[in-house]
Amino acid sequence: SQRRKVDETLSLFKLSPEHLQLVKDSMRAGLEAGLRRTGPFTIKMLPSYVCHTPDGQEYGKYLALDLGGTNFRALLVRFKKQRTRLYHKIYPIPLEIMQGTGEELFDHLAECVCDFLDYMGMKNARLPTGFTFSFPCEQTAIDTGNLVSWTKGFKATDCEGHDVVNMLREAIKRRNDFDLDIVALVNDTVGTMMSCAYEDPKCEIGLIAGTGSNLCYMEDLKNIEKIEQKTMTEKKKETFKGEEDEQGGMKAEKTEGDAEMAKMCINTEWGGLGDDGSLRDIITPFDIEVDQQSVNPGKQRLEKMTSGMYLGEVVRQVLLDLTRRGLLFRGHVTETLKTPGIFETKYLSQIESDNLALLQVRCILQKLGLDSNCDDSIIVKEVCGAVSRRAAQLCGAGLAAVVDKIRENRRLDHLSITVGVDGALYKLHPHFSHVLQETVRVMAPQCEVVFLPSEEGSGKGAALIAAVARNKQNM
Ligand code: BG6
Ligand code: GLC
Repeated sequence: SQRRKVDETLSLFKLSPEHLQLVKDSMRAGLEAGLRRTGPFTIKMLPSYVCHTPDGQEYGKYLALDLGGTNFRALLVRFKKQRTRLYHKIYPIPLEIMQGTGEELFDHLAECVCDFLDYMGMKNARLPTGFTFSFPCEQTAIDTGNLVSWTKGFKATDCEGHDVVNMLREAIKRRNDFDLDIVALVNDTVGTMMSCAYEDPKCEIGLIAGTGSNLCYMEDLKNIEKIEQKTMTEKKKETFKGEEDEQGGMKAEKTEGDAEMAKMCINTEWGGLGDDGSLRDIITPFDIEVDQQSVNPGKQRLEKMTSGMYLGEVVRQVLLDLTRRGLLFRGHVTETLKTPGIFETKYLSQIESDNLALLQVRCILQKLGLDSNCDDSIIVKEVCGAVSRRAAQLCGAGLAAVVDKIRENRRLDHLSITVGVDGALYKLHPHFSHVLQETVRVMAPQCEVVFLPSEEGSGKGAALIAAVARNKQNM
């Protein structure tokens, strides 16, 4: 019957406890391989050069720039004794800029910053700046990093392999009407962790479930094989005796009791899990379709099953299939249904909202240009539910691997830790956060994980990192 066929399709998205264990195990193996960097690895495990969470001693005025989520934001952050003040402005990044040349992209950013400084009346202050750039960067210091590869639909030319801080500095120079002191390059996960750690010192993990999906956490320095010489030399003075390896990286060796405690935040780029085929048991034909139609086929396979930019596309592929098989929309494959990107996170969130009557679901579909009857709206809601539930479970299994690793690093039977979180999927979706938390609880029973949604985005965190970096400069 019709119903059975729909159920069969939906069952492709169900994850058994064995599946979830497999994801947790393959995440754990991926984290280890990325840290070792010998042999093939899909999880990049990028050092952030952030070695401490904030201590509340940060003060002064900072600029924070935030590129890579839904919007580009410019912020002015002011740390005072009692409170933090924040002013910001949002700038959309047009598609033709995301996919034009690198120079155009960075010129556009510089123009937005210029507008913001004008707006704040601060054009002449050379502000210390934290640059949140939410893409994988191979950093060699807190203020330099080469873009490894674009993700999330960005594909501006001549950026991969280049230092993005330099590109921003050059764009500002080309304008020659203001100047910035860019002191920190920050991934959004790291910025989010730092923002939240300012409120809760137990926060040692940053998680983004938004346009993209990623996580960072505080790793023991002694477990990070490859850190560029510069920082290690600095670190060496503080706590380590380093030994240079043949590629010029440094191997850290513990010399004092303190060294045991030394940590660095690692941007995992966990969205790359599965790029070697390790998720083949759970990947559906719909995921393959979404991957093939993306700008980076074969890459970011976990991200394509877990983040806002792709979930709606997975849903659309399922609806297309059901319609083609005559199980939905009376078999009418409309142009709308064939249009990529129609199901944004906010629509998925609305459709899945518990207190929404089916009639309202039909209204939303209507607004999207999809004519539905009552049965259709039930099926659409179920498809959305299956896809987003799987996303939350996958993130939960990944997170379980991370917290257990931290617990084992510290040789604890029980770990209590806070995760700073941001992203529209986490914040706006009616069930995602609950399923995520429940999955971690079941899959990492020796860890007590508290989730702290970031209040002010990652900008405050970037400013905090800038504050520490600048203090070091001045020392
Ligand atoms: C914002 C952070 O609040 O959340 C960004 O400031 C981050 O740095 C973003 O990239 C992630 O969420 P989304 O849903 O906008 O991708
Ligand atoms: C993508 C980016 C990563 C970022 C994440 C969330 O996965 O590669 O750097 O943290 O999206 O924005």
